[in-house]
Amino acid sequence: GEDERLAAFDALIAADQRIEPTDWMPPAYRKALVRQMSQHAHSEIIGMQPEGNWITRAPSLKRKAILMAKVQDEAGHGLYLYSAAETLGTTRDEMLDALHSGKAKYSSIFNYLAPSWADMGSIGWLVDGAAIANQVPLCRASYGPYGRAMVRICKEESFHQRQGFEILLALMNGTDEQRAMAQESVNRWYAPALMMFGPPDGESPNSRQSMAWKIKRFSNDELRQRFVDMIVPQAEILGVTFPDPDLRWNEERGHHDFGELDWDEFHAVLRGNGQANALRLAKRNAAHAEGAWVREAARAYAERTATSERI
Ligand code: ACO
Repeated sequence: GEDERLAAFDALIAADQRIEPTDWMPPAYRKALVRQMSQHAHSEIIGMQPEGNWITRAPSLKRKAILMAKVQDEAGHGLYLYSAAETLGTTRDEMLDALHSGKAKYSSIFNYLAPSWADMGSIGWLVDGAAIANQVPLCRASYGPYGRAMVRICKEESFHQRQGFEILLALMNGTDEQRAMAQESVNRWYAPALMMFGPPDGESPNSRQSMAWKIKRFSNDELRQRFVDMIVPQAEILGVTFPDPDLRWNEERGHHDFGELDWDEFHAVLRGNGQANALRLAKRNAAHAEGAWVREAARAYAERTATSERI
């Protein structure tokens, strides 16, 4: 009966075993996974835009090749995650409709503009750095297809982070103007990158249940702290500073203290009022409409091969 199935599910979670698509799972677990995984997939797809926009303006052939590979990786991440979410019984069309209509959330960070080349460095170093801090623990997520997708995604994210760091390092070893460009960009991305981890633990409605189900492994604030501790020494190597007067090492805690973030800004971005929400959604809808012929051709081909005899 229901009780036995729930007990079996709870036992699997308690034993750090994986839940697979054909296993019984509580409807709320399924729903929470679809929510998190589809938001994650949407973030990867929308996240292609700020960098895709720089491919034609990359400063060298090498930078262009690297940037193209990175943006393609992001498309790949989105597609693995949609596939993983589909194993829970939600169709890709349903998820895409939610994105295209503006109903679905995707990461706040992609609603900021990327007006300078140095932003390609900051996005790689800080945004992908935050993504790794958040996603490495998700390789152990309790839902099998999600955890497994995350392993490859994290390997690629780690390359993305290094390439961003290296862009900033090259700028910091350049002219005064290039150094100023790098610093100006880091100033803009620092706080939004910290907000990627989500609201403070006390205001995070999903954390408790998601952590109990091992859909999430650490709280928003724990991961944010881990990220700050990771990037401070990296900033020293680069020679950039962070725009936070309260950022300092706390010997007692063994962690860096940092200033309160502007959560009003975060909530405004989530409500659709960030710098680029409208732009990102309009571009995504246009790209989807322009791709209609590909979907139609694939459907026609599938129908023809299904009905014709093999020779
Ligand atoms: N941007 C947009 N929405 C956010 C963000 C953010 N940075 N942080 C939290 N939210 C949303 C949550 O999705 C949730 O909305 P919902 O209940 O309507 O679905 C609401 O704010 C409350 O937040 P939490 O209760 O803390 O939500 P949750 O427990 O899901 O934690 C987190 C949010 C940490 C993002 C989690 O979902 C997660 O780890 N997701 C997987 C990783 C991911 O999606 N990364 C995307 C960016 S990285 C990249 O693509 C390069």
